[in-house]
Amino acid sequence: MNETLHIIANRRSQRVYADKPISEAEKEAILHYALRAPTAGNMMLYSILEVSDPAKKKRLVTTCDNQPFIAKAPLVLMFMADMQRWYDYYAHCKVPDLCRENRVDFVKPREADLLLANCDALIAAQNAVIAAESLGIGSCYIGDIVENIEIHREMFQLPAYVFPTIMVCFGHYKDSQRGRPVSSRFDKKYICFENTYRRLEPAEFTDMFSERDQKDCHGKNYLRNAVNFGQHNYLRKTGSSFSDEMRRSVKVALKSWGGE
Ligand SMILES: Cc1cc2nc3c(=O)[nH]c(=O)nc-3n(C[C@H](O)[C@H](O)[C@H](O)COP(=O)(O)O)c2cc1C
Repeated sequence: MNETLHIIANRRSQRVYADKPISEAEKEAILHYALRAPTAGNMMLYSILEVSDPAKKKRLVTTCDNQPFIAKAPLVLMFMADMQRWYDYYAHCKVPDLCRENRVDFVKPREADLLLANCDALIAAQNAVIAAESLGIGSCYIGDIVENIEIHREMFQLPAYVFPTIMVCFGHYKDSQRGRPVSSRFDKKYICFENTYRRLEPAEFTDMFSERDQKDCHGKNYLRNAVNFGQHNYLRKTGSSFSDEMRRSVKVALKSWGGE
């Protein structure tokens, strides 16, 4: 195994950090390698915003579903899908005038642009995560940044065509956190296919989830009146109040990208 594969294989989400700041040189390196990520059409359809203001970090604890470690992370970066910069540039270049002369519509950002820009933002984020890991700096994604879009827009003065795709907390490993076992993954045969997609059979679900069920729930400690792991996970994640808030918030955000 080479060093890159070793880093990928041993990374795990870090939610506690050593009491040690991330140096300017380390931050510069994380950002530098984030910006080297592949990007659709080499357009860099994303922006990275560092949240250094302690008051803003504290606010994010609550707006991102009550996750106190956000306020304690030495470095917090938001990776945002960004079509605003290109549309401002197009306006600067008088592209709408050109379109009028050519009798074609000037196309505003739509849902597809948001999806593409989200891809860009996420790929840059993962480059940052791996670069940080190679420097001995752990990290944890915060998906809940897509919640409370109205508050986040105001907090960070986000224009209409900027969407906070993902946030990442970074910090040096605590000694006690080093060498912790990595979390499990589903078996490759249920995730990777060749040429055609295949929906899974009932027996395959039993096998696929048996380890997760044992590890997370000891095969029985389910939430409320759930009687199996699927019901438990639905209550915990997909059907939970934070998922409801994500759906509401993203729907609002989609509207300003020209969606229904
Ligand atoms: C898109 C995305 C959103 C996530 N959001 C959160 C989050 O809000 N809070 C958190 O503690 N972890 C979050 N995580 C981390 C996952 O919980 C973690 O990656 C998963 O449990 C697997 O563990 P590992 O990263 O240690 O392998 C997120 C990860 C991803 C990829």
